[in-house]
Amino acid sequence: MLPAHLSHLPAPSAEALAHGQRLVSLIAAEIAAAGGWISFARYMELALHAPGLGYYSAGARKLGAAGDFVTAPELGRVFGQTLARQVAQVLHAGVPDVMELGAGSGRLARDLLAELLALDCLPQRYLILETSAELRERQRALLHRELPQLASRVAWLDALPAAFSALVIGNEVLDAMPVHIITARDHGIDELGVTTTAGAFAWSARLAAGTVLAIASELELAPGYTTEIHPAADAFVRTLAAYLERGVALLIDYGFPAREYYHPQRASGTLMCHYRHHAHADPLCLTGLQDITAHVDFSSLAKTAAASGLEPLGYANQAQFLINCGITDVLARTPADDAAAYLPLAAQAQQLVSPAEMGELFKVIALGRNFSPPLLGFARGDKRHTL
Ligand SMILES: C[S@@+](CC[C@H](N)C(=O)[O-])C[C@H]1O[C@@H](n2cnc3c(N)ncnc32)[C@H](O)[C@@H]1O
Repeated sequence: MLPAHLSHLPAPSAEALAHGQRLVSLIAAEIAAAGGWISFARYMELALHAPGLGYYSAGARKLGAAGDFVTAPELGRVFGQTLARQVAQVLHAGVPDVMELGAGSGRLARDLLAELLALDCLPQRYLILETSAELRERQRALLHRELPQLASRVAWLDALPAAFSALVIGNEVLDAMPVHIITARDHGIDELGVTTTAGAFAWSARLAAGTVLAIASELELAPGYTTEIHPAADAFVRTLAAYLERGVALLIDYGFPAREYYHPQRASGTLMCHYRHHAHADPLCLTGLQDITAHVDFSSLAKTAAASGLEPLGYANQAQFLINCGITDVLARTPADDAAAYLPLAAQAQQLVSPAEMGELFKVIALGRNFSPPLLGFARGDKRHTL
C-alpha cells in the first residue's frame, strides 16, 4: 500500500505487494530479533539484496524504460562504444581481462564486447561479479543470444578473486551499496536506524558508536545536519586493493568530492528512491519494490584507495571523460545526413554529456595498481587534485 505522501505514484500490482510483504516480514523479524532497531545500512542491504526477496535479487524489471530507472548503458550503445576505447587502451598495455561489477541487464557487457571485437582487442576473459541471481540469468541470456561467438570468454563470479589482473568497470554499482545515515546533534552524533511501529517501518535514532561515529566525527557537521556515510563502499575498495595485482578500476557513478557532498546546503543528504521513473526520498515504504541509492563520496573512495595501495589515476566528470575517450568520433561513424540513424545517437550523446543531464553529476574515478600509462579518458580536465 502506498502511503498518503506517495499516493501519486503508480500502484504496485497485487503480486508485487505480496512479494514486498514477504520482504517486510523478513526485515521486521530481524528488527524484532535485534531488540527493536537495525541500522539503516542493514535495512538497505536487506531491502536491495536479501536473497530471493531484495529489490536486486528478485524478479522486478528494475532497469530500462519498463523498469524504475535508466542507466547510461540502457540509453543505447554510445556509452559502451565510447568506454570501449578506454578499455582497449588498458588491454593493449597488457592487462588481460575485463571484470564488470554489477552488470545490470548485461547491455554494457554486450556493447563493450561487440566494440572490442570490432577493434580486434578482445580481453582473454570478460568476468562479471554480480550479486543478483536474477540479473545474472538475464545477462547470460542476452550475451548468449547476441554474442554467441564470445560466450566462452564470459564467466560469472560470486566474489572478487583473491588475486587478479584486470580492467575493472563498475557503472552505478557503488550507489547501491548500503549507507549509514547520521544526524549531527548538540550532544554528539545520532545514527538513524529502522524500527517497527503499528505494523510499518519508522525511523529511530540512537547515539552513533564504533566505526560510524569515527567516520562521522571527522566530517565536523553542524547540529541538525543529516547525511550518509559509506563504509560498505570503502570496504569494497579495500578488498579490491587487496586483490588487484595489476590493472585499473574505473568506477562511474553520481556523486561529489567530500567538500561538495557535505556542503552546508546539502543538509538532508542524498538518499533517493526510484520507482517506475518517479524519484522520492522515502526508503521505508515500497520495500523491495523500489531502488534505494545514495550519491558516492569520491574523496572518501580516493582516500581509502590510496591508504590501501591503489593509486588514483584520474577523476573527471562523465562528459569530460567521454569526450576524452572520443564520443564525437563514435558519433561521426554514422553520417549526420542519415537522420533516422544519426539523431537517436546524437540524443544519447546529449544525455550522456549535457551538464543538465548526466554529464556533470556523474563522475569517473580511475584507481590503479602497477599501471603507469596516462589514461585516455583523463587526458584533459583531470580533477584528481580536487578530491
Ligand atoms: C543500478 S544497477 C547498475 C547496473 C549496470 N551497471 C548499469 O549501469 O546499467 C546496480 C547493479 O549492481 C549490482 N550490485 C549491487 N551491489 C553489488 C555488489 N556488492 N557486488 C556486485 N554487484 C552488486 C546489482 O545487482 C545491479 O546489477
